[in-house]
Amino acid sequence: MADFAPPPGTSDISGAEAKTFRWLENTAAKVFSAYNYRELRTPIFEYTEVFTKGLGDDTEVVQKEMYTFLDRGGRSLTLRPEGTAGVMRSLMNTGVLNGVEERVYYMWPMFRGERPSAGRKRQFHQIGVENVGRVAPELDGECIAMLMNFIESIGIEGASLKINTRGLSSDRPAAAELLRNYFAGHLDEMCPDCRERFNRNIWRILDCKQPACRAIVDASPDYTGAFSPESRAYFDKVCQTLEDLNVPFTIDRTLVRGLDYYVHTVFELTHSAGLGAQNAIAGGGRYELFLPGENRPVRGVGFAAGVERLLLTREALGAKNEGGEKEKIVFLIGLGEKARRENMKLAEKLRRKGVITALEVEDKSFKSQMRSANRVGAAEALIRGDSELEKGIVIVKDMSNGEQKEIHPEEYILSC
Ligand code: HAM
Repeated sequence: MADFAPPPGTSDISGAEAKTFRWLENTAAKVFSAYNYRELRTPIFEYTEVFTKGLGDDTEVVQKEMYTFLDRGGRSLTLRPEGTAGVMRSLMNTGVLNGVEERVYYMWPMFRGERPSAGRKRQFHQIGVENVGRVAPELDGECIAMLMNFIESIGIEGASLKINTRGLSSDRPAAAELLRNYFAGHLDEMCPDCRERFNRNIWRILDCKQPACRAIVDASPDYTGAFSPESRAYFDKVCQTLEDLNVPFTIDRTLVRGLDYYVHTVFELTHSAGLGAQNAIAGGGRYELFLPGENRPVRGVGFAAGVERLLLTREALGAKNEGGEKEKIVFLIGLGEKARRENMKLAEKLRRKGVITALEVEDKSFKSQMRSANRVGAAEALIRGDSELEKGIVIVKDMSNGEQKEIHPEEYILSC
């Protein structure tokens, strides 16, 4: 038999899961609107340079994970692996480069060619926000508080928020030097990947998961001491804003995040329930992002939460499916051509009133139509044949107990 499973790392979303998905999106829209954010939808693919320049050639996503193809004219296009770069491209002509503030949110599928595992997919969905155009630590704090508001609104308690500062790019050489001097003395105890990172990108050593490297990282000096006083003051102000807004957090100097555009604040939200190794349910930070053909960066702060991971976490916490309340379904059973025609008209009227209505349009036996009514989970069957048509009534059968009553169709519509 043919294999009709979707490609690895992708899935079909239907039924109760689709309803919870939509509920999550509606809740996000409600929360973000309260902070004056508006929805943005951009194309699912962009010119490849938007991502190579925007995220940085050196990032894992750009180097290994992008789905890139040529269009008919030979231009290279890429399915978006994340939302920030495309949002910046779209906002370029709004004045964000000149300090005009834009607040947008999005709920999009993203594509990364990663090795699939629980909570790690090749097509996944992010709910994200970007506050673009202005730079102020209060905005970083507000953005994080909004993330926590959203997470609590969808019934996820007990997530832990880690934050850190990456400073500005001008802060990093001195800080990297500090780390280099320290790690140089431990290189032979570290994993081969870290030895390579030592030469290529020393910051990546900080998030190595190997126990031996972990212990060395934990004892490493606080490199933020080498940042400028302004950058340190910026981070202090972010922390103060979070305290003012009653958002609990821990500072984690090993949090560097995988994308190159971050400056100053970075943050990640993890949850221990349900996810195993892929326990980051959301991540974000402040960024300076460069687009092709523009030498000034777009500045903003934002985050994205992984919808599949939010769903897995909710499930592990025993949260009930939302938006999945049983809605009443009515099934119209028609015996004979004339009754079926009348049922089509009745179905249209009921549907226009918002009643979920199913019916049989072909010539099927009563028994077969009852089976269909049961299969769709109908609460009531409305039955009629020639004699009911003559009397101007339908028989309403309560599917839970088999009780029947007669009613005029118009009266039935009014009662709905
Ligand atoms: P990110 O950390 O790469 O950040 O992704 C954000 C979230 O998307 C992750 O915390 C995770 O929940 C989810 N996610 C990432 N990859 C996968 C995957 N393969 N399968 C399932 N879920 C995944 C960004 O994308 C940034 N654009 C966030 C941001 C917005 N920073 C500033 N503004």
